[in-house]
Amino acid sequence: MNRQTLSKFLLVCSIAFGMAVLGSEASPNPNGSHEHETDDRGVLQAIAQAPAKTREWKNPYEDQPDAVLAGKKLFMQHCAECHGAHARGIGRALNLHLPYVQRATPGELEWFLRNGNVWAGMPSWSGLPEQRRWQIVSYLKSLH
Ligand code: HEC
Repeated sequence: MNRQTLSKFLLVCSIAFGMAVLGSEASPNPNGSHEHETDDRGVLQAIAQAPAKTREWKNPYEDQPDAVLAGKKLFMQHCAECHGAHARGIGRALNLHLPYVQRATPGELEWFLRNGNVWAGMPSWSGLPEQRRWQIVSYLKSLH
């Protein structure tokens, strides 16, 4: 490599380096995108994040009127303070009659109840026995 080629090579390197620096400055601010995640549209995707396999899970209490009654009791005990006695929502806690909640499969709902959406104010119900979560799912589906 002679001196002239070397200086051209160095020039190309410094231009490429400069562009890389500018490029990284132009990329979106991670704090900005984090703020975006906390808006309502982000929150509405919580059920949508259920893994695909949950769609195949069957509610062992499906179509059992007793399960709907038991689920309603559990709802009054654990959920009504935030979602309202008729599950129509209060403040940030959603109206559970909304089509996108009702479109969720029983398995997706059970998964969501187990995980919650803690940063949005929806607790995790992993502490309840699984049977009770399915009963609550039966009740939610009966609102339809
Ligand atoms: C401490 C208050 C609180 C309690 C108690 C609570 N929730 Fe929630 N729940 C929330 C909030 C807040 C959201 C998110 C609302 C939003 O979209 O901004 C939510 C969301 C939901 C959703 C919608 C899922 C989604 O994609 O956002 C369902 C379904 C739900 N709750 C069911 C229940 C059930 C069933 C119970 C009782 C076992 C319960 N919740 C108890 C506050 C609560």
